[in-house]
Amino acid sequence: MTKKNSTFPSLPRELRPLLLMLPLALVLSLLIYLETISVTVAFVLSIVFILCLFQLSRKYEQEMAELRRKIILQEHESRDTKASQLLLTSIMENLADPFLLLDARKRILMANKSALDMLGHDILRKDLSLFIRSHEVNDAIGETIESGTSHTVEYLYGNVMPRNLLVRIHALDIPSQDPASSLKRYIFLSIYDITPIKQAEQMRVDFVANASHELRTPLASILGFVETLQGPARNDREAQDRFLKIMYDEACRMTRLVDDLLSLSKIEREAHIPPSGMVNLPTLIDSVVETLAVRLRKKDMSVTFRNDDHIDMVPGDYDQLTQVFQNLLDNAIKYGRENSEIDIRLYKETATPPLDVQTCNVSITNAGAGIPPEHIPRLTERFYRVDTARSRSLGGTGLGLAIVKHILQRHKGHIRFESEVNKYTRVTVSLPQTNSEAPPK
Ligand SMILES: Nc1ncnc2c1ncn2[C@@H]1O[C@H](COP(=O)(O)OP(=O)(O)O)[C@@H](O)[C@H]1O
Ligand SMILES: [Mg+2]
Repeated sequence: MTKKNSTFPSLPRELRPLLLMLPLALVLSLLIYLETISVTVAFVLSIVFILCLFQLSRKYEQEMAELRRKIILQEHESRDTKASQLLLTSIMENLADPFLLLDARKRILMANKSALDMLGHDILRKDLSLFIRSHEVNDAIGETIESGTSHTVEYLYGNVMPRNLLVRIHALDIPSQDPASSLKRYIFLSIYDITPIKQAEQMRVDFVANASHELRTPLASILGFVETLQGPARNDREAQDRFLKIMYDEACRMTRLVDDLLSLSKIEREAHIPPSGMVNLPTLIDSVVETLAVRLRKKDMSVTFRNDDHIDMVPGDYDQLTQVFQNLLDNAIKYGRENSEIDIRLYKETATPPLDVQTCNVSITNAGAGIPPEHIPRLTERFYRVDTARSRSLGGTGLGLAIVKHILQRHKGHIRFESEVNKYTRVTVSLPQTNSEAPPK
């Protein structure tokens, strides 16, 4: 088939050099005929010639075999290189973080899908500074191009919903084809969204600052009254009684605050362990109402409780759900109008986002000042209050709804608020009717 084999199809490769003997035999025969050399000399010459010929032919075969081996090896290597290049490209392409490759003039040569999604699909061969408008990032890239040292820069990206990005900049020196320089410098950029880490960091800082502030206020007031009692009010019996009462109230507020903080940290510790028990919800709510009966009477308030769908058992942690309804009913009493009614309703609901299962809902409605709509999205933040002074004067810590939110998260539940200023506030808690973690029966 091949051209190589078609020349001497019947003769084995090793015997092909013998064909060169034909012209030699002819020449030697002619020389013997002309009596230039004797038969013996001709014989010796042909033996030497044959030996040389075989030696040369063996060497040639060996070299050819070596060459063939090298070619096969190279073919394998180039196939492997191509495969690993493809693998690397597809890994880069599918990584969730944006990656970019720039040349030494800051032009974008390559960008993975995330980078295109982030910066736009028309960025290739354009200057990076058109898309990342940050002096710090651009200066750092400039320095990496100059010196080859790596840099890490943080910057804020976007105006509407700014994201905290971390950019790592590395120099890649690749052997070049250019005879003027042996290496060509490329810049490799990896971008990480560290917004959640920054937010968590900020939340921790805010939380410590808020908690310290909340504790310092009653502490300062207690210290102030102690000084007054030791000084100007030393002999004023009536003032002493009044101040001691205030000090007692302030100390109670500190205790409540510490209790709430401890409670929050305990709930957070258990956040990833789903509740394993079953709770009789109407009984639990009844007992919460009973616990708060004295406070209800003090404000001439009453409670109506309806359980239209005859809900009884729901999956949950008894103590934590008690805490949820105690906090919500406490708010309804605290912020509810005197001499009014609190309405508690227990009912079933199907597929209300973000829950896709049938839920048991508890709504607690009280008449009162209500909550202006702009405050509603922030109510479950720690220490967030609509009216801080009012909440404090009523003994609030600002942590009640944050605790409720965390407990409901652990129960895969949900809370929503509806309110009309100067009319009513309704808080609705949704709990999954079945335990999603339990094995199917
Ligand atoms: N039923 C309600 N009616 C009016 N405002 C409410 C009601 N429940 C909660 N709020 C508002 O939400 C804020 C946060 O509640 P919460 O976390 O329980 O803290 P606290 O009650 O200790 O102030 C309260 O300060 C109050 O402004
Ligand atoms: Mg409260």
